[in-house]
Amino acid sequence: GEFLEVKLTLDELNLSNQQLTKIMEKMIKEMVKGLGKDTNEDATVKMIPSYVKSLPDGTERGQFLALDLGGTNFRVLLVKIKEADEINGQPKIEMDSQIYRMPENVITGKGDELFDHIALCMADFLKKLDLLDHKLPVGFTFSFPCKQDGLDHATLITWTKGFSASNVVGKDIVKMLKTAIDKRGDLDVDIIAVVNDTVGTMTSCAFDDQECMIGLIVGTGSNACYMEKMSNIERLDSNKGGMCINMEWGAFGDDGALSDYRNEYDVHVDENSLNSGKQLYEKMISGMYMGEIVRLVLVKLTEDGLLFGGETSEALKTPGTFQTSYVSQIESAIPSGMTAVQNILANLGIGAMRADCEVVIQVCKAVSRRAAHLCAAGIAAVARKIKANHPDRETLRMTVGVDGTVYKKHPTFSQMMSEKVDELCAGAGVDVHFALSYDGSGKGAALITAVAQRKIGSDE
Ligand code: BG6
Ligand code: GLC
Repeated sequence: GEFLEVKLTLDELNLSNQQLTKIMEKMIKEMVKGLGKDTNEDATVKMIPSYVKSLPDGTERGQFLALDLGGTNFRVLLVKIKEADEINGQPKIEMDSQIYRMPENVITGKGDELFDHIALCMADFLKKLDLLDHKLPVGFTFSFPCKQDGLDHATLITWTKGFSASNVVGKDIVKMLKTAIDKRGDLDVDIIAVVNDTVGTMTSCAFDDQECMIGLIVGTGSNACYMEKMSNIERLDSNKGGMCINMEWGAFGDDGALSDYRNEYDVHVDENSLNSGKQLYEKMISGMYMGEIVRLVLVKLTEDGLLFGGETSEALKTPGTFQTSYVSQIESAIPSGMTAVQNILANLGIGAMRADCEVVIQVCKAVSRRAAHLCAAGIAAVARKIKANHPDRETLRMTVGVDGTVYKKHPTFSQMMSEKVDELCAGAGVDVHFALSYDGSGKGAALITAVAQRKIGSDE
């Protein structure tokens, strides 16, 4: 009886290969729409040209400042690209960085103050390194949807994730940062490039792996980028070479494309978010929402009398208390027994028995598996779209450079995703590999800045 009822709830979180294939096909359609000249306006997946065309070729040198805003941490980095290493001929990259706290009232307050805070952190960092009087080129990883018409212009289309600072949407964030910097008067920097975190991650991986042509983030938010042929980017008038496209795939489904697959928990999460009706695909996948979905399922099962003897707790009833890191911890605890699970639940005011823990584990598994499979449908779409640009190749190998807390911390997410990509791409002539990015997207932003500078220098 009870077991069956739990199973019915978990079934709501299962997506069959047939359903995932449909989702993949819809994603491909959205991609084409987003790239189109006339169809772009009503596309949910915005397919934003990043103006990153060439990847680093190893001749870049110099000292760069990178800013990295939009994930769990705000980071300021100094990246030095030095002469080739004697052993492998690769240029050596040295980095130093510091994490700065981004208080809640800064990310949801006034836009001007957000940029003042960023400038303050830059000044503090450069002061510590005794570099305040060096003119440094800056690469800015800004992980939100921005319309670009060049590497150093980026207009915020909408905030996503937990950000909502006022008077930034519709503005050029480079200008806003420059204003904040000029106001201080103690900084002498030149903002050369704004890049999305997906683009930074892909670039950073491509530095070591020529086959890396996709970037993926499964962290606070979720998004992907990839190298597209210029001739397919109908909004830009060029047929030469390729460009990296920031997909902004988190918004997939915002036109109802996912309505057959979203359930009551997804609806609840969306309605209680900062940006209701937006980023519906992201809300089924990423770390900002995964724990909350689990919490809602647990509350439902408890209220139905199927869990914790029918008794919830104040903490469990409070939105946001079930952190996504718990999902990773609970699933990592499986082989070693119940204690870790009981501890987490005890912190939420719940005394859990063995049978309860088993159900909680199953719920976590179902939610994270669905996220991994949805993400796989997206990556399979990208892989097939890229393959269409290379009809001559029997099998195209491609590496996906990945970053983000969910991907890094969850014990089986990467495996579940990669296996599902293989299933969804069977017979498509692609061979998709995943590579974890160790250095974050700040390094990629610095490399992109270095490439841009080399071009300015050589009038290419
Ligand atoms: C990091 C990048 O490595 O990954 C961030 O440098 C990015 O800019 C992040 O946003 C994504 O992960 P999370 O989990 O911190 O959102
Ligand atoms: C959100 C942002 C996107 C970013 C992603 C991962 O979806 O809109 O720009 O890449 O989160 O951080």
